Amino acid sequence: MEPLIDPFARPISYLRVSVTDRCDFRCTYCMAEHMQFLPKKDLLTLEELDRMCSTFIGLGVEKLRITGGEPLVRRDILTFFRAMSRHLETGALKELTLTTNGSQLARFAGDLAAAGVRRVNVSLDTLDEDKFAAITRWGRLPQVLEGIHAATAAGLKVKINAVALKGFNEEELFRLVDWCGGEGHELTFIEVMPMGEMGEELRLDQYWPLKDLRARLAERFTLVDLAERSGGPARYVRLAETGQKIGFITPLTHNFCESCNRVRLTCTGELYMCLGQEDMADLRAPLRASAEDALLEQAIRAAIARKPKGHDFDYSRQRVAGQMTRHMSHTGG
Ligand code: GTP
Ligand code: 5AD
Ligand code: SF4
Repeated sequence: MEPLIDPFARPISYLRVSVTDRCDFRCTYCMAEHMQFLPKKDLLTLEELDRMCSTFIGLGVEKLRITGGEPLVRRDILTFFRAMSRHLETGALKELTLTTNGSQLARFAGDLAAAGVRRVNVSLDTLDEDKFAAITRWGRLPQVLEGIHAATAAGLKVKINAVALKGFNEEELFRLVDWCGGEGHELTFIEVMPMGEMGEELRLDQYWPLKDLRARLAERFTLVDLAERSGGPARYVRLAETGQKIGFITPLTHNFCESCNRVRLTCTGELYMCLGQEDMADLRAPLRASAEDALLEQAIRAAIARKPKGHDFDYSRQRVAGQMTRHMSHTGG
């Protein structure tokens, strides 16, 4: 079987799968307060998701990251994780993981670990209860902290994702760093990306460039740059004083597209070849058109052949270019 290679000679080995557009939170940078969610009938069934992912794995995908919305609010999602673990057992799949808001982790951590999940990424922008409620619009911080503890107790490694927001978590930078250090969690900061209908000005108001955040960190710690890239968007430093690892995801100030290894499947079966582009391929039609996988494989290869060189996000010249009308929750970050 020929592996998936895009037009820029990048092997595609990582599939991000959004299993639902729904979420129990409404983070202001991710969703509108009153979201219109997709009718359930438009979603791929769990059986269809299984067939879709298995086909990608057959074509050489080695890493699956399950996202949403919030993946753990999809009914029977454990059935899907358990089904995917068969590919871990054969060795075709090297990693099965998820990105979650943590709200349901207390309930699911043990079963996820049993299904072969080893790491989870949890979104957590603040350790202040009131601020947490404000950014998520109604989320409860203690519930998420409880989820994170349950994950650790179940043996899962936890990576915390914090979106860097000017005037919101600036003052909390060291609190987040110290807490993650104490708990043994890796921490990654993410620059806010211009998606959804949030106005241009508001998004620019919130934009806290990570080079400024980094400079702030350097006031207290010695930052040692790490060469490793993990094929992902993050760059890492180690804090010499504590030994902890901090990641930076700067889609807007640094272009990591050249080594991009991933594509994204939405919960309705659209394949987005790039987070920062609107072009997508419908895979639901070929999936439903035939019980044989040949048509689907052909559609996947045709889509990969269209993968663009990179995204068009641009915060320069004091305006947001490349603003996407799509919500982050649609493609799962
Ligand atoms: P691993 O590399 O698998 O550990 O995970 P990750 O950091 O890529 O995944 P996660 O779901 O935690 O995403 C963290 C942030 O990275 C999110 O805000 C994503 O939107 C962003 N991100 C992930 N992949 C891409 C990408 O291809 N392009 C851009 N611009 N951002 C990305
Ligand atoms: N910009 C940057 N990161 C975002 N996320 C959601 N919306 C945005 C945005 N507009 C993050 C979440 C989660 C990850 C999957 O994407 O916080 O950690
Ligand atoms: Fe939900 Fe995550 Fe979006 Fe927040 S960022 S609304 S937790 S999907």
